Amino acid sequence: MKILGQTLQQQGLQYRRAIANLSSMALRANVNAIKDLATPAQVIAMVKANGYGHGIRSVAGRLADHVFALGVASVDEAIALRAHGIQSKIILMEGVLCRDDLPLVSSLALDLVVHDKAHLEWLAVHRDPIHDVWVKADIGMGRLGFFPEHIRGVFEQLRTFSHVRGTLRLLGHLSHADSPKHPINHTQISVFSNLVKHLQVPASLCNSAAIASFPQCHYDFIRPGISLYGASPIDEDHAVFSKLKPVMTVKSRLIAIKNYAKGQGIGYGHDFICPQPMRVGVISFGYGDGYPRSVRSGAPVLVNQHLCPLVGRISMDMMTVDLTACGSAAVGDEVVLWGDGLPITEVERFSGISRYELFTNVQNRVKFIWDDI
Ligand SMILES: Cc1ncc(COP(=O)(O)O)c(C=O)c1O
Repeated sequence: MKILGQTLQQQGLQYRRAIANLSSMALRANVNAIKDLATPAQVIAMVKANGYGHGIRSVAGRLADHVFALGVASVDEAIALRAHGIQSKIILMEGVLCRDDLPLVSSLALDLVVHDKAHLEWLAVHRDPIHDVWVKADIGMGRLGFFPEHIRGVFEQLRTFSHVRGTLRLLGHLSHADSPKHPINHTQISVFSNLVKHLQVPASLCNSAAIASFPQCHYDFIRPGISLYGASPIDEDHAVFSKLKPVMTVKSRLIAIKNYAKGQGIGYGHDFICPQPMRVGVISFGYGDGYPRSVRSGAPVLVNQHLCPLVGRISMDMMTVDLTACGSAAVGDEVVLWGDGLPITEVERFSGISRYELFTNVQNRVKFIWDDI
């Protein structure tokens, strides 16, 4: 696209106000680290929710050839991937919403998750070939899936459908994988392992936290999400997960620097009052870009490699930072809000907003720039 005779590239995308730098190298390194941990289990890469906010097409395009399958939440996400030329296996993790979606499942060759008896009724009157089917068991999560005592009957019924041509597999999901010491994990794991033992079908149980905490439960397929994007799913130290590389680094720039006298209030509501004369910078990034309004004063950002604390309330397009620790800072300098050099968990710590939400909240007006294009 040309604006004023220049392409966006010539205008220097990297100098836009709000940027998410995305690292293909980090994405590849993370998927390889997870594979090393779980081999021979194969990877279903969770790319739902717009690739955890990283861009579903971009992430899926980079992962498709390196994983067993891609996990999406909706038919719309699957359509977007097929339209983008992705031919690999795509699993509809929540199944379909209505009978009318089944022709798309057949024509796009999608894998279907069956988790409700309505799905069996719809499948019974559908005629086109259906690819592989994954039966979801509710092993105690209390969300999607058939109760364990009904699972055998579901498999039996699916085997009577001649148009269900592919492999039948079993799925489970743990409710407390991120609290590995919680005793309920063992109850749920034992329910799942009994099902696998009796059904003798390929199975998948683990999300990222479970991959780290329950290596004996990797079964045939693991389903990493957050860890692919470089954030550890658990707060405890873990040999591999602590070394994941952030795929997304969110940045902006200083657009003003002012010296204030002791006692000056900063920003809306004067939530922060300068306790001494202070040099305060204004960063062009706010909750309208996806940085949480609930972040408290003291949250760190990186200005020229120096950690500096935010002060005052986050506005829609701006936030303010104490530059005392960074005397050299000048208008135009880059500021890292999370990512390389500053874990997203720091923003989580100062806002109470989970890393999952932070990733998926990054807004469209932030420019996404991959390192390999
Ligand atoms: C069924 C299922 N499996 C796997 C995942 C991936 O979880 P995580 O991002 O914690 O690895 C999710 C994410 O919500 C999920 O719903």
